[in-house]
Amino acid sequence: MSEHDLTTPQTEESCGATDTGFQVSRRQFLFGTGAAITLLSMPGWMRGRGMPARVYAQTAEFERKRIASVSELKTGDTVAFNYPWDHPNAANFLIKLGKPAGGGVGPENDIVAFNSFCTHQGGPLAGKFQADPGVAGPCPLHWTTFDLTRHGMVVSGHATLGLPQITLEVDGDDIYATGVMGLIFGYYDNSVDPTA
Ligand code: FES
Repeated sequence: MSEHDLTTPQTEESCGATDTGFQVSRRQFLFGTGAAITLLSMPGWMRGRGMPARVYAQTAEFERKRIASVSELKTGDTVAFNYPWDHPNAANFLIKLGKPAGGGVGPENDIVAFNSFCTHQGGPLAGKFQADPGVAGPCPLHWTTFDLTRHGMVVSGHATLGLPQITLEVDGDDIYATGVMGLIFGYYDNSVDPTA
């Protein structure tokens, strides 16, 4: 186990937070090997409803895969890729939002990536990734919208789980996918290769 701090640009002070983190027991996904604990900052409006300042989510780590080049991305650009498996449900989009985001990489911390299937009933979100206002959606089936600046949390709609975020790292000019934070729709375990 390792611990990553992927906090959003929003600071605890700016949120008015005074409480400390806790473990999200309901989200103990069946990730098997290669799991890591990821620290998330919660926005002020959620903590005003009883949520703590920070929560922890598990990330399944996989062999890193090169996705794109930092220098070739402009705000609003998207890059489709499969990760961690060559399987239809493991279809993802990287997007340069043009504003800092939770888990964002690059000079402006604005490059993020997410799975492209709605966590409600698997509605397709391809073509629904929008740099402005920084959301994926609305889902064409039941209108769920996910906030790409805040780790894919649900903004509105039927889904109750956030969009799985693909964790990224930058090495020189290269952007790599390194793991998946959240259970991919249709899987019971991210670590089990559905193509095997
Ligand atoms: S499948 Fe996306 S909101 Fe229902």
